[in-house]
Amino acid sequence: MSEITIQSLKNGPFLVKGTAKLFDADGKQIETKEAYGLCRCGASAHKPFCDGSHQKVDFQG
Ligand code: FES
Repeated sequence: MSEITIQSLKNGPFLVKGTAKLFDADGKQIETKEAYGLCRCGASAHKPFCDGSHQKVDFQG
């Protein structure tokens, strides 16, 4: 099994690396890449993924 890492980026998303399976609230699997960002600020138009909107809203976290 390959290693999966999740790193919280300063004022940005959670950076996920590895082959973790991601599911929506209905249990449907969401297709992912080998590395991706999960929105932590709530402003992304493409949730659950980060689309860079955290910079526009000046997310602090
Ligand atoms: S953390 Fe990047 S858009 Fe929310």
